[in-house]
Amino acid sequence: MKTLVTGGAGFIGSNIVDALLKKRHDVIVVDNFYSGREKNLIEAKKIAQEMNVELSIVKADISVEKTWKELPPVQAIFHIAAQTSVTASVLESDRDFSWNILAAKYLVEYIKRNKTQFLLYSNTAGALYGVPPVIPTNETQPLHPICPYGATKSFLETYIRALTESLKMEGKWSNDPKKENYFSWASLRLGNVYGPRQITKGEAGVVPIFIEKLFAQEAPTIFGSGKETRDYVHVHDVVSAFMTVFEKQQKEKVDEAYNVGTGVPTQTSDVFKNVLNSMKDKTKVSEAKHSSLRPGELEESCLDISKLKKLGWAPAWNFEKGVTQTVKVYLENEKETKA
Ligand SMILES: NC(=O)c1ccc[n+]([C@@H]2O[C@H](COP(=O)([O-])OP(=O)(O)OC[C@H]3O[C@@H](n4cnc5c(N)ncnc54)[C@H](O)[C@@H]3O)[C@@H](O)[C@H]2O)c1
Repeated sequence: MKTLVTGGAGFIGSNIVDALLKKRHDVIVVDNFYSGREKNLIEAKKIAQEMNVELSIVKADISVEKTWKELPPVQAIFHIAAQTSVTASVLESDRDFSWNILAAKYLVEYIKRNKTQFLLYSNTAGALYGVPPVIPTNETQPLHPICPYGATKSFLETYIRALTESLKMEGKWSNDPKKENYFSWASLRLGNVYGPRQITKGEAGVVPIFIEKLFAQEAPTIFGSGKETRDYVHVHDVVSAFMTVFEKQQKEKVDEAYNVGTGVPTQTSDVFKNVLNSMKDKTKVSEAKHSSLRPGELEESCLDISKLKKLGWAPAWNFEKGVTQTVKVYLENEKETKA
């Protein structure tokens, strides 16, 4: 199948690109390389050659209409690119609107123009639910973003749900996968994703931030008491979630949102302990610094993942195993860079 991955040079996007190529799909990556990296696509280039499938890389901004007009038609879009910083969403509204909302407008127009059949969207979970009324939080809880990032990310899911229902009611789009006008969307609401290729740009990525600090022999900062919890999910589990939903869509319509996490809350102090434990012979640091919780930060977050589990998906990486693997890859890359 011909597929398009926006943000395909980024952390999550590039891991999805690898998985699509391994399944023998052709892939077009569109990325402006703001936080995406050429090196994230080295593996993809090798896989494309081995599998004899096409990989093309387009350096372009998805908030520009011309980008979408110049892209060839594809059957499936994995929409992963976004403005991802909570702080930037407060201070740089223009960029947040452009990348998360204006880009979504052009994406929808592209889908209509080219009769794209599948849309898989990487939504956020934490910023979407706000202060969760129920923990673990399930998909039926109201969306109550408490930062602009959560609000702009929520737009595409809400819009595509409404548009799809309207066009299906009018008979313009179909629920039948055998029909040419079949369309199915899915929004994957991701917990705190970590794993190889994650960078420390901005405030996200506590795992790589801790790794880098410890490697530099500096004490990392824990914001808050350390008892704050997040649902940390390994990027390989996120990729398998996307693949599970994509396979389901090829058999029957989905048109649903799914939480993607582990259902296990992990305290920030345990993140530090796990990273420190995996790096104990590489660092002299033994304690973290503490600072107050930043504005807009949640005290608790954990996702109910039972809806996605019903599709046969389950997370395969517990946090300890995931951190050990992430640290191992980081240290190997450091060695290669120095060699
Ligand atoms: N990492 C997480 O913990 C997490 C959690 C929840 C949701 N998400 C969502 O997952 C997606 C990917 O996040 P990530 O952590 O891989 O971040 P990332 O920064 O590594 O990936 C984003 C990619 O999109 C590209 N991009 C951004 N704006 C663009 C534009 N206007 N035009 C073209 N390319 C553009 C960047 O260069 C980058 O390659 C985002 O949609 C984010 O909201 C991530």
